[in-house]
Amino acid sequence: MNILVTGGAGFIGSHTLVELYAAGHTAVVVDNLSNSNPESLLRVADIAGIGVIPFYQVDIRNRAALEKVFSIHHFDACIHFAGLKSVSESVEKPWEYYENNLSGTLVLLDVMRRHGCKNIIFSSSATVYGDPQEIPITEQCPKGQCTNPYGWTKSMLEQVLTDIQKSDPEWNVVLLRYFNPVGAHPSGRIGENPNGIPNNLMPYITQVAIGKRKELGVFGNDYPTPDGTGVRDYIHVVDLARGHVCALNAILRSCGMAIYNLGTGQGYSVLDMVKAFIAVNHVDVPYSIKPRRAGDIAACYSDPTKAQVELGWKAERGINEMVRDSWNWQRNNPDGYGNN
Ligand code: NAD
Ligand code: UFG
Repeated sequence: MNILVTGGAGFIGSHTLVELYAAGHTAVVVDNLSNSNPESLLRVADIAGIGVIPFYQVDIRNRAALEKVFSIHHFDACIHFAGLKSVSESVEKPWEYYENNLSGTLVLLDVMRRHGCKNIIFSSSATVYGDPQEIPITEQCPKGQCTNPYGWTKSMLEQVLTDIQKSDPEWNVVLLRYFNPVGAHPSGRIGENPNGIPNNLMPYITQVAIGKRKELGVFGNDYPTPDGTGVRDYIHVVDLARGHVCALNAILRSCGMAIYNLGTGQGYSVLDMVKAFIAVNHVDVPYSIKPRRAGDIAACYSDPTKAQVELGWKAERGINEMVRDSWNWQRNNPDGYGNN
């Protein structure tokens, strides 16, 4: 299949491109580079053993530019990663988040349908479950109250996509609810490239390990979890990327509307992650306990059975590979792709 990959220069998009090519698909990338560097695409091309990845530096809110891309290429499906994703920034700049993520997706969907491409895989998040009513979380678990504008953009876009598919059954819509992506390609050539101070645990750990930051703050050790620190379902980005390739099969069999959790089903605490990182990589990660972070929940992990049964997908990489590959990427690229 020929796939439009929006946001393909970013963290998850770049890893997904590698897996798409490995599975025999082709891709065209549209990205405005607001949170990425085109160097990632050069490296993807190297890893995939192809000459060059067709790339357009286009903002998906720019209808005319997007129309032009669709007039040049025929797409069988779109994997839609493009969006702003920082929880804390979204609290400070809600308008920018709603405008970018909602308007961008609405323009994309309109251009897609005008060109007869009605197959989309959307990057959603476990954040749509809010404080989940049940753990492990199945797709049956009702959506909850999000604690920040970023989360609401995901929840709202899930609704938009659901209603569009309901009104026009020619659409195939796959909502993938990611848990906590970490790790990097084992080559150490592509990985997560956060701008400024990382919000997320793993990039913070790697930046402490390499000496860019003094110590990790562990946000709370009084949660009702085995060691008191927050528990999450960390998933290796290569497994996550492969989940998208499997989701294309759902589209091929005309799934209509489908929702899948992409996680391992295994929860690890903040201290589990820190200890595994130190043990596997033989580097120190100084940390101290800080107050709880506003909006955090105690524990969140998936029941990934549905993706296994219906997509034939299962996460295969464990905590040791996650911490090893995260460190391998950071160590080989202390300044990421060089833009921060
Ligand atoms: P990322 O920031 O690395 O990649 C997103 C890409 O989209 C970037 O390259 C950015 O430049 C591009 N982009 C943003 N707005 C755009 C626009 N208007 N037009 C064109 N390009 C635009 O983020 P990521 O971690 O790879 O996440 C990919 C998707 O997965 C996002 O939608 C994110 O919300 C979602 N997601 C991420 C996580 C996570 O923890 N990384 C968890 C759940 C869901
Ligand atoms: N944490 C720390 N110190 C840090 C950063 C994080 O102790 O410096 C803790 C958090 O308190 C939490 C755990 O590490 O217990 C994970 O925090 P992250 O910020 O890495 O991830 P979250 O689970 O809070 O949220 C992430 C993404 C969201 C996404 C969600 C589910 O940031 O966008 O996973 O996919 F919605």
